[in-house]
Amino acid sequence: MQLEHPVLARALQPLAHTETEVPVVDPARGEAFAWVPRVTPEEVAAAIAEAARAQPAWGRATWAERAAVLARLARLMSDAAEDLARLITLEEGKPLAEARAEIAYARSFVEYYAGMGGTEIGHVLASPFPDTEVRTELEPLGVTAAITPWNFPSAMITRKLAPALLGGNAFLLKPAEATPLSALALSALAHEAGLPRGLFHVLTGGRNDAAAIGGALTSSPVVKKLSFTGSTTVGKLLLAQCADTVKRVTLELGGNAPFLVFDDADLDAAVAGLLVAKFRNTGQSCVAAQRVYVHASIFDRFVDALAERVARLETGPGLDPKNHIGPLIDARAVDKVEGHVEDAREKGARVLVGGTRIEGRGSFYAPTLLVDFSKDARLAAEETFGPVLAVRRFSDEAEVIAEANATRAGLVAYFYSESARRIARVSRGLEFGMVGVNTGLVSTAVAPFGGIKESGLGREGAREGLYDWTRLKYVCARYQEP
Ligand code: SIN
Repeated sequence: MQLEHPVLARALQPLAHTETEVPVVDPARGEAFAWVPRVTPEEVAAAIAEAARAQPAWGRATWAERAAVLARLARLMSDAAEDLARLITLEEGKPLAEARAEIAYARSFVEYYAGMGGTEIGHVLASPFPDTEVRTELEPLGVTAAITPWNFPSAMITRKLAPALLGGNAFLLKPAEATPLSALALSALAHEAGLPRGLFHVLTGGRNDAAAIGGALTSSPVVKKLSFTGSTTVGKLLLAQCADTVKRVTLELGGNAPFLVFDDADLDAAVAGLLVAKFRNTGQSCVAAQRVYVHASIFDRFVDALAERVARLETGPGLDPKNHIGPLIDARAVDKVEGHVEDAREKGARVLVGGTRIEGRGSFYAPTLLVDFSKDARLAAEETFGPVLAVRRFSDEAEVIAEANATRAGLVAYFYSESARRIARVSRGLEFGMVGVNTGLVSTAVAPFGGIKESGLGREGAREGLYDWTRLKYVCARYQEP
């Protein structure tokens, strides 16, 4: 781990030599290259207490003062972009070009909320009472917490951190055990940007510490909000844990995204969009296309073009610029992908490309294209979280919409069509929080990201993201003439 930026070198370089506590493993080599502390529940309690002491002054700072810290953080992220990207590739595995794109995406949340510092933060409403002002304003929640995933180790933090800080809150972060270094790097940069001490704590730990750290956060009455991105199973558990103290909860959970290609689609554009929607981060994304439905009249042409593109994808360590597909996060992830492919094969799917794990160092699975998967295949109901494209044919619009909606998830759906009427009809018919039309990528800081059904609660990014990190106060103020 060679870091150039002085702030990051100072904060993180020593972690490459401690060889104690929790190892951080490079998934491309299967070897530890850094070690981070194991935070105990007592240390979580101390962090909560320190955050509670620091937050009131930050909450009283002006919106412009808080925005200025975010603006400085964005500049530091830009200066340290190459280090931050390499850290992502080292601890998470994604190809360096994608890691650079993630840093730009992560920074865009910080810039977006820095830019919101000077905009309206409440409304004056038309009062029905004489001599009375009726208005709303946004207030800080107080001490807040986030549990973030490993698949976007930087962007999933800043999407929460930036509105939390702009809104005047203290922020306690439990990063995924696999990717703590990006979190520690952001904390070092935020403090360098002038964030007062006590407002941003990173609570690191191993797989066996997650329940204790999470439990210390969810059970504390001082913590007013929990934001979680991760699996639906863990999300439900955290939601139940937060019920006792009636915390604000934001959940961004599993996706199971359908991707529909109609007979009036631009086929080349649909193939290109599908490759992005599926293979971004080696398929390890909640918004990854999971079930692909292609109209029967164009099925063979589409699948031929897809097979040719998938066969050309190079797989290997993310630091090697020739590779498009990196490792999966760990060996368990490879087992899961293998299980899904075997199950689909047993239930009648044909494997046209790939379909095997790659033996040797690191946790790699070959980019895979399988067609004619059955409705009762595991991959029709569960996210694979790997580089597997599963394609099925359809012939009727209403039927394919019903099949796309036949899932407990509701994060994102994609479709390709050149017909304006169909675009309006199908967008309305899809029961998902986000719909991508003629694109395989919907993520941006300016739009509210989030799902319906069991894909989650609340929204991240955009104005709505700030509302989720603040509480709304209504003031009815009568000004009586003496
Ligand atoms: C995710 O996979 O959880 C989020 C991906 C994104 O923001 O695009």
